[in-house]
Amino acid sequence: MTATLTRRAWTTDLEIEILNKLVDKYAPHLPKTRLHDPRPIQTQAELDNFIRFRIGGAAHDLYIVQVCAKAIDQIADPDLQLFLSRQIGDDGAHAQHTRQRVLALTGHDPIDRIGQQVQKHWDYMGSLPFRNWQGFLAFELHYELYIVAQLLLNSRTTRINDLESAKFGVETIIPDEAAHRLGVVAWWQRKYDRASPAEKADLVAQVLAADEEGQRRRNPYLKEHWQIVHQALGCELEALPVVYDAWRREVLSYLLDIPVSQLPQLVSVND
Ligand SMILES: [Fe+2]
Ligand SMILES: [Fe+2]
Repeated sequence: MTATLTRRAWTTDLEIEILNKLVDKYAPHLPKTRLHDPRPIQTQAELDNFIRFRIGGAAHDLYIVQVCAKAIDQIADPDLQLFLSRQIGDDGAHAQHTRQRVLALTGHDPIDRIGQQVQKHWDYMGSLPFRNWQGFLAFELHYELYIVAQLLLNSRTTRINDLESAKFGVETIIPDEAAHRLGVVAWWQRKYDRASPAEKADLVAQVLAADEEGQRRRNPYLKEHWQIVHQALGCELEALPVVYDAWRREVLSYLLDIPVSQLPQLVSVND
């Protein structure tokens, strides 16, 4: 119990500290801060790659909106519902901004392409986010927390970007997403802290089972998505799988209050 009482709060500073530790261990060639400012998009091929990447981003956000709206209806937890109302508003605004930016860059509203990509998330995630609260927690961890290592590494190694999209990212998306991660962590910790030691053991087993299922379901998408991001931004790709797996272990270690070395072997993004 002492470990719980003395544990540091989950903050964006802690995230960067953990990520840098993993970079030192698994990818020491990568920079700890951004080395160069990205250059603007210059060719039609670069624009096409960027648009595909942004449509994927809008679909990620719209899928979150749809799942969280269902969860508000299904999980009778007023505290969670108030948090989810913010997440829905923010991620909906992110998707809408991305849609408008693609329209401005191409002259075409991408809403149908966004809708098609959202359907892919529904297909591969299946019933997991709605089966029970453990499945919904796994969804939140996969869609909000496990993507952080990739996002931070991308931001350090991006070579090409749309300056307007980058500005919205820094001013709006980054602070909103930090609030989402803290909200998910706080929701879980309230549940976990109230549990007895015996209940905690059950919760760990239930959360790990749902989370592992989420990883298996996400693997093909993540591989494809990372290629799309790499082609659009020119960012580092090679170290992502090993850092992703290690990052997920760190997050689970923190949430379940189990040292990384004592977690069971987990599904890898490469499985
Ligand atoms: Fe978002
Ligand atoms: Fe979010």
